[in-house]
Amino acid sequence: EIHIVADAEAGAKVVADVFTRTLQAAGDTGAVLGLATGSSPVPAYEELIRRHREDGLSFARSRAFLLDEYVGLPAGHEQSYHRFIRENFTSHVDIDDAAVVSPDGTAVDPVAEAASYDRRLQEAGGVDLQILGIGSNGHIAFNEPGSSLASRTRVVGLARSTIEDNSRYFASAEDVPVRALSQGLGTILEARRIVLTATGAGKAEAVAQLAEGPISARWPATALQMHPDVTVVVDEAAAARL
Ligand code: GLP
Repeated sequence: EIHIVADAEAGAKVVADVFTRTLQAAGDTGAVLGLATGSSPVPAYEELIRRHREDGLSFARSRAFLLDEYVGLPAGHEQSYHRFIRENFTSHVDIDDAAVVSPDGTAVDPVAEAASYDRRLQEAGGVDLQILGIGSNGHIAFNEPGSSLASRTRVVGLARSTIEDNSRYFASAEDVPVRALSQGLGTILEARRIVLTATGAGKAEAVAQLAEGPISARWPATALQMHPDVTVVVDEAAAARL
């Protein structure tokens, strides 16, 4: 299902509606939410914070799993995804902080940490709703071009273009970690429902490939074509090549 919306604010409402329905359906047991970092989901998080404050939307019994984390950044680091999700979303709603889980970027054995993270996701019963952004090269989480469509949570190397895209958050491109722990494409596809959001012309090619391209590791987001319940929310600029 593809929604082309006027702007990020309109997109945020569509994404927040999907979250609201998932939370309501989960009722008292709470939902398992898959959360993403990056700038794209932030307007949706802001809308969810507003609904929590004004409409009483509750995350009280829900749990959340992040998609990825930079290798080498401690949880408190300014640019760690652990910190990002708290600052931009979870600390502003009523989810238990201990229920917001991300891969440990400082684990002594990152390979073992990746496998254990994948297990923890499964033990939680899987993700009810996964929110995704998309990289300009078609990556989702940190599954760069060439990632196996069946990949699991693992240690990945970042593409040069991703390091450049993400360098805006760091003092320089040299400060961007070159490795990350990332849920795999196969892991992400196990979420029961997925909502992907993108804005701006820089995402237009990746969005066109995601929706219309042949399924290929060359554009990792094309793996989503194999999932039965994906909602894509894009503005006109990101939809320009559809
Ligand atoms: C990072 C994250 C992705 C995110 C992408 C796009 O590399 N690992 O999960 O989708 O950036 O970021 P943005 O939304 O800021 O364009």
